[in-house]
Amino acid sequence: MRIFVAGLGFCGRAIALRLAEAGHEVRGVNRSGEGEVAGVRILGGDVLAGDGLRALSAVPPVDLMISALSGTGQADAEAYRRVYVEGPARIADALRWRGARKIWFLGSTGVYGGADGEQVDEETPPDPSHRAGEVQLEAEAALRSAADDTCVLRLSGLYGPGRTRLIRQALRMRPYLKPEIWSNQIHRDDVAGVVAFLTELQEPPPPLLLVSDDRPALRREIFDWIREAAELPEGCYDEDHPGRATRDRGCKRVSNARLRALGAPLRYPDYRQGLAPYLPNRSGADNAGE
Ligand SMILES: NC(=O)c1ccc[n+]([C@@H]2O[C@H](COP(=O)([O-])OP(=O)(O)OC[C@H]3O[C@@H](n4cnc5c(N)ncnc54)[C@H](OP(=O)(O)O)[C@@H]3O)[C@@H](O)[C@H]2O)c1
Repeated sequence: MRIFVAGLGFCGRAIALRLAEAGHEVRGVNRSGEGEVAGVRILGGDVLAGDGLRALSAVPPVDLMISALSGTGQADAEAYRRVYVEGPARIADALRWRGARKIWFLGSTGVYGGADGEQVDEETPPDPSHRAGEVQLEAEAALRSAADDTCVLRLSGLYGPGRTRLIRQALRMRPYLKPEIWSNQIHRDDVAGVVAFLTELQEPPPPLLLVSDDRPALRREIFDWIREAAELPEGCYDEDHPGRATRDRGCKRVSNARLRALGAPLRYPDYRQGLAPYLPNRSGADNAGE
């Protein structure tokens, strides 16, 4: 297939690489047009600039576009929103796409509220408890208007090389915020693996899939495991701290049953397998990098 990946950041690069390795003809766009991904042609373009996507008009017709754009890092809230809500359609237009548009979109499980650890799946009505979740929902709706054939992959917390926030938090010696919050995670390489798997299906993928590992876990459990694995003393918890965790991310358990029922493989079905390579070594050095 000829595949276009919009956004070549943490996830987009891994997806583009995996698809190129699988033999697809892959192109992609980021703002700078810089960076190298083996087998992938990288173009520069800005979805927020008036004629910022001119370079895309020379791209040969594509069969599938995957949007891995992120509004994080934009100057203001409106630019953040526009990257998600307008970005995929603007790129599809710039590609001068003729025929049925097929776009897959990396979304977020942040569209669910959840306060009591309830399980959420594809049938659960979204109920975002923060602005970022609302923007994600708006982006999903815009995507369905802009394309004929869509698949939204709602990702849980992303981690992988260079993104190991839970480890950094666990290693700090101050009281942790809200240890009783459920944490749902997915390794970046498993996101890429899932996308590659979906391209191999005979049937189009379902319009909505939650992408998370097999093992939601309480932050307390994860922090304790990290500290024990790093041979550090037990952490101390401040149960009453009015932290940001509940308000910003909800407290829910993300079900990946539909993903697994499709047969999608996960290399890191459990956070312990995924985080182990990034634990500090015995000299205390950080292993978080690539
Ligand atoms: N991070 C998480 O924990 C998490 C959790 C759930 C879901 N997600 C979703 O997963 C998706 C990918 O996240 P990520 O962490 O891989 O993102 P990322 O590393 O921040 O990469 C975002 C990409 O979008 C490009 N981009 C941003 N603004 C642009 C613009 N105006 N014009 C053109 N390109 C632009 C960036 O270009 P440059 O490289 O040139 O900057 C970058 O390549 C996002 O939709 C995010 O919401 C993330």
